[in-house]
Amino acid sequence: MATTLADIRAVPGLDDYLDALEERLARTVATHPGLVAAVGNEALAAGGKRLRPTLVFLSAPPGREPSLAAGVAVELVHMATLVHDDLIDRAHFRRGKAAAWSIYGPAAARATGDYLFARAFSELSATGDAAAVEILADATLALARGEALQRTQTNDPATTVEAYLERCALKTGKLFEAACRLGGGSGEYGLALGIAFQIADDVLDCSGATIETGKIAGTDLRDGTPTLPLLLAAQQDAVVRAALAGGPMDGALVRVAATGALDEARRVALDYARQARGRLDGELHRDELEALTHAVVDRER
Ligand code: IPE
Ligand code: IPE
Ligand code: MG
Ligand code: MG
Repeated sequence: MATTLADIRAVPGLDDYLDALEERLARTVATHPGLVAAVGNEALAAGGKRLRPTLVFLSAPPGREPSLAAGVAVELVHMATLVHDDLIDRAHFRRGKAAAWSIYGPAAARATGDYLFARAFSELSATGDAAAVEILADATLALARGEALQRTQTNDPATTVEAYLERCALKTGKLFEAACRLGGGSGEYGLALGIAFQIADDVLDCSGATIETGKIAGTDLRDGTPTLPLLLAAQQDAVVRAALAGGPMDGALVRVAATGALDEARRVALDYARQARGRLDGELHRDELEALTHAVVDRER
């Protein structure tokens, strides 16, 4: 049985779908040549796992052609949020390359993100499917609300686990949910999967290797973003608590690992992955969707 993202990619038809996706992404980003199209194209060319379009594909019910427009639109919304997110997080590295804002500046990064959002909605609305556009619009609003909620939680080690999980649902779960629903599958599966995915991302931010993640570890702590591993560690370690509140972070990441908070956070991610599995019921690609619930937690990148 498939267990890694690479294994899941072997499902018949997915390779062709993702090839067609790349072509269409490049074409839609190039529609209005200029600086934002060039910056958008760089973000696109840097790669990425294309997990959300993969979810669109895997969610297609029997007898239904997987929607390319939906896959393109969710990936564009995702890329737009990453370009904006790196600006907000002051993250210098993305997909193994310098982040857009760090090369072209904040204004160009903002405009590029806006352009990618616009292209996403243009692609999806061209299908004439108003319900689909509403699903993506809701997810996009949730993303913005998630980033806003994160802002209010910055440097607050007293952020509750519940408030953290709410943020994960908004900024990550909702787009996973939208990908599954746009594909024709279960939104509840996608929401739980997305939360598991974000918790795993937050663990990787404490312990991941740049060569794998394409990002710099420790960004969340430096930004004072209270992620689950950091919150759990802060409950036990005064140095971590002070660092999360905005104090010096020297040696704090090593202490996070020493508290066992990474394993504890991983267990919560596994629980969401289990909940996602529990939402599956007779899907055409059930094996791959189930495998994804393992792969989103057990990953290095
Ligand atoms: C990164 O998403 C942002 C989060 C929701 C944690 P991905 O890890 O899917 O990013 P790419 O597309 O593979 O670069
Ligand atoms: C996820 O949060 C970002 C969005 C959903 C926009 P992060 O800030 O943790 O994502 P990375 O780590 O920068 O990819
Ligand atoms: Mg970020
Ligand atoms: Mg992160």
